Amino acid sequence: MAGFDTLRWRDGHLELIDQRLLPGECRYLACDSAKAVAEAIRGMAVRGAPAIGCAAAYGVALEAHRLRSAGPEKFESGLERAFQLLAGSRPTAANLFWALDRMRRNRDGRRDGDPKAIAAGLLKEAHAILQEDVRLNRRMGEHGAALLDDGMQVLTHCNAGALATAGHGTALGVIRSAVAAGKSISVVVDETRPFLQGARLTAWELAQDGIPVTLIADSAAGHFMRRGEIDAVIVGADRVAANGDVANKIGTYTVAVLAQRHSVPFYVACPLSTIDLGVASGADIPIEERGAEEVTGYRDVRWAPAEVTARNPVFDVTPAALVTALVTEKGVINAPDRNKIMALFQ
Ligand code: MRU
Repeated sequence: MAGFDTLRWRDGHLELIDQRLLPGECRYLACDSAKAVAEAIRGMAVRGAPAIGCAAAYGVALEAHRLRSAGPEKFESGLERAFQLLAGSRPTAANLFWALDRMRRNRDGRRDGDPKAIAAGLLKEAHAILQEDVRLNRRMGEHGAALLDDGMQVLTHCNAGALATAGHGTALGVIRSAVAAGKSISVVVDETRPFLQGARLTAWELAQDGIPVTLIADSAAGHFMRRGEIDAVIVGADRVAANGDVANKIGTYTVAVLAQRHSVPFYVACPLSTIDLGVASGADIPIEERGAEEVTGYRDVRWAPAEVTARNPVFDVTPAALVTALVTEKGVINAPDRNKIMALFQ
């Protein structure tokens, strides 16, 4: 288990590690309203599909708590605004909408209750979502660890670790579980331009755990695969379509194509809450496009000319055909397709 809490409930508010500051500084950001949580999600203080879902659930709970004495009408309309605000914070991660749906069902189940009881129920549900996430990541880790042999060198892209979840991680959870089972695993991590989740976050969290990690430029992945230095690829997911297509951090598709070219297995680890049966294929997954300034520079440094046009899609879609196996809390699904994914939900 990683030695930090990505999100935690303290003294009536939500605290999140402000991931924009890592690895230089590990500082918690306190949020006391849905607006503050939505801003933290949009601004990337908290990121990674399951972590965003957990944060959004607490955003709803915080707003209910804030409005619990405002009278039933103000409570209802304020809470509805909170749901809208949080749903509009980022478009791609299925877990955000999954968590909001779950919070909405919890609220709807108590429609006649008084605001204080509803607020208490929503907070309990947010805690349950967070605790469940850690539990499912551990289960996923146990299933996925069997895919990794002692001595393997594994490539990952972006950050699908404890920082992207409530704890343990999805892709990094599989690696952590394999290491906990006594296997020696080393990790090659793509830096993950433009937001550098690999360089800043994955490298940081693996180093904290003492798991050997080597950072490479994204463009070096093919070079190392060609030399036979990568035994497997494992990544997380932001949304998986009903046919098994996977939306994940921009650059994942490139890695999957390279893996196929070099006969390297390409694994995707995600909980069922990342699978969206409402989208038939990857073509229907909304892909977030963020500001050009993330591509033209980083923080205060600008390296591209001010007038240049830049595009910044932050996710891409890997077709199911390139996925060797999907690792979920229900087990490992080889060559995922629509039928196998449907069976997971039965
Ligand atoms: O833009 P981000 O940092 O939120 O993107 C995160 C990813 O793409 C992760 O790989 C994904 O959410 C899986 S997290 C367990």
